[in-house]
This record gives sequence, structure tokens and C-alpha cells, in this order.
Amino acid sequence: MRDKIEKLLAEIEQLAAKKEQEIEEIRVRLLGKKGTITQLFDEFRDVLPEQKRELGQVLNKLKVAATQKIDELKVMMEEGMEAEDPQYDLTKPGDNLELGSRHPISVTRAEILSIFNKFGYAIAEGPEIEDDWHVFGALNFPPEHPARDMQDTFFISEGENPVLLRTHTSSVQVRSMENMKLPIRIMCPGRVFRNEAISARAHCIFHQVEGLYIDKGVSFADLKQAILLFAREMFGENSQIRLRPSYFPFTEPSAEVDVSCNICKGAGCNICKGTGWLEIMGCGMVDPNVLEANGIDSKVYSGFAFGMGIERIAMLKWQVKDLRLYFENDVRFLKEFESVV
Ligand code: PHE
Repeated sequence: MRDKIEKLLAEIEQLAAKKEQEIEEIRVRLLGKKGTITQLFDEFRDVLPEQKRELGQVLNKLKVAATQKIDELKVMMEEGMEAEDPQYDLTKPGDNLELGSRHPISVTRAEILSIFNKFGYAIAEGPEIEDDWHVFGALNFPPEHPARDMQDTFFISEGENPVLLRTHTSSVQVRSMENMKLPIRIMCPGRVFRNEAISARAHCIFHQVEGLYIDKGVSFADLKQAILLFAREMFGENSQIRLRPSYFPFTEPSAEVDVSCNICKGAGCNICKGTGWLEIMGCGMVDPNVLEANGIDSKVYSGFAFGMGIERIAMLKWQVKDLRLYFENDVRFLKEFESVV
């Protein structure tokens, strides 16, 4: 059997370009239902067990070689026919390859992460399907507390610690507090979900990047400085920020961050609705209850957190008026970002 295989291997090597019918004949002779190679596979069933391994390998090699060679011959023949065809113009320039481009959300996420990377923030990721504890409980949202209304979501199970779709990537911060050694300095990018009606300004799926820094002696001044530096890198070196008091269950004090409008430079325009300011994120000092819930001594450590919607940052950066455009994948829209690398 070995001789037969080797002989056939040699024969296949020597096959030159043949006409279509000849090639088909060869294929049938070798690989057809009653073809020589097919028959060898039948014979192979009776081969002694100790020879099976070795012979099996060469036999498979033979089949692959034969199939490849026949395919090659077919291609060569087709190309040859095209070349002879008077309609086939060899001097014609090739078709342009249509290259895609990165999605504006990916571009924006990469830009945000690279700015914070320069400040020493690592990237942490976690599951989109989460439990109640990581999305709410550990972040100081007591059960039934009205603060949960701010982030209604889609529940997958019921019970004491139901499974749900995460409403923010703060859940990854909880997982990082559980697993990482202090100090912690991380950025958490990811997709989040909320039970919201879809409109130009809201969607049930969107993307966030949240940041967390916990160490000894971290202060509100550090938070403000980090955000100011970010705003200047992202929106231009003359950007200003302002903080407005706000409320989040997991931070105390909490603030909403506005950046000076980069379109009218603060004079007031229709993008900033005449105020000169654009809201970009929420932030605050991590509530001691959150640190303690995650096993961190709040008398020794303090930290700050902030979170922003990538769609919103991208809307402000490129003046996109309708959030739904990011999800529709209309090529005309995506093409506008082709030059943004
Ligand atoms: N997790 C908040 C949200 O999704 C954003 C936030 C993060 C606010 C960290 C303050 C601090 O709405």
C-alpha cells in the first residue's frame, strides 16, 4: 500500500496544466466515488492497528495534495482562459479595495483611555451581565432605595441577588476593589444597559468609561486636577471646567462636570444652549460606605471616581445631534469619520 501511495504522490507532483475535461477526469479517477484514493481509504480500514497511525498520515497527505493540485489546475486554467478572452483588458487598472474605518465610539474610547493611560491608569474590564450586588449593593444603593430609579435596567432573574444587565461600569470598579491590591488606579470601559426609551439623547445600550483612584490621602483637589487635565487633552488646551454639586449614592460629595464649550469658546451657542458650558461627566469622592463594603479601611484610604458616556463625549467632540446614529451603521455617517484616526 505504501508503494501505491508514493507512486501516486509522485504522479500528482508531475501533473501539468490540462484542459477542463482532463482535469475533471483526473479528479474522478483519484477522488471520485470509485477513485483510487477513495478506494485506498476503504482499504485503510483493514490496515493493521500498529500501522494505522503512520499510514493514516501519508494517506491524508495524499488526499490533501491531490485536492490542492486539482484546485490549482482549475484556477490556472480559468486564468488562462480569461487572458485569451479579447474582452479581458490586462491594462485596465484594478478595482479599488473599499477599506472600512473605525467607529467613532471606538475612536473616542481609545482617545479617552490613552489620555488616562498617560496619567498611569490601567484598564479593567468586567462582565456585562452582572448581579445586583456588584451593580447596586456594593455601591451603597440599599434595596428598594429610590436612588435605584435613576438606573432602571433589565433583570434576568429574581431573588435576593438578582442577575441583571449592568447599568454602569462602576460594577467593574467593585470587582477591582475586591481583587486588586491598593493603591488602585483604573479605567473601566464597557457597554452598559438601561431601561430607557430610545430617543436622540438616550438609548437602552450605550458605552461608558469610568475611572477610580484609591490611595492614602487622595483629595477632591486631586480629582479636580485629573479632570481638568483630561478636559484640556480632549477638548483643547484652553478648556475650563466647572463642578456643580450633584448626587450619586456611591460618592460623597458628588459633582457634575461641565467643560467650557469648545464651539463658541464660552460665548454661548446652540450647542451649549447659550450657557457656554457642556456637561461631560459625573464624579465624586468614593463614599466611605463603598470602601468599607469592599473591605477597604476608609480611615486609611480615600479615593475618587468619575464616569462618562462615550456617546456623549463623541457627540460633543463632533457635534453629532442624534445618538441613534451611532447604532444604525449608516455608511454615510460612518464615512464622515474616515479621516479621524
Ligand atoms: N456610575 C455613574 C453613572 O453611571 C457615573 C459616576 C461614576 C458618577 C463615578 C460618579 C462617580 O451614572
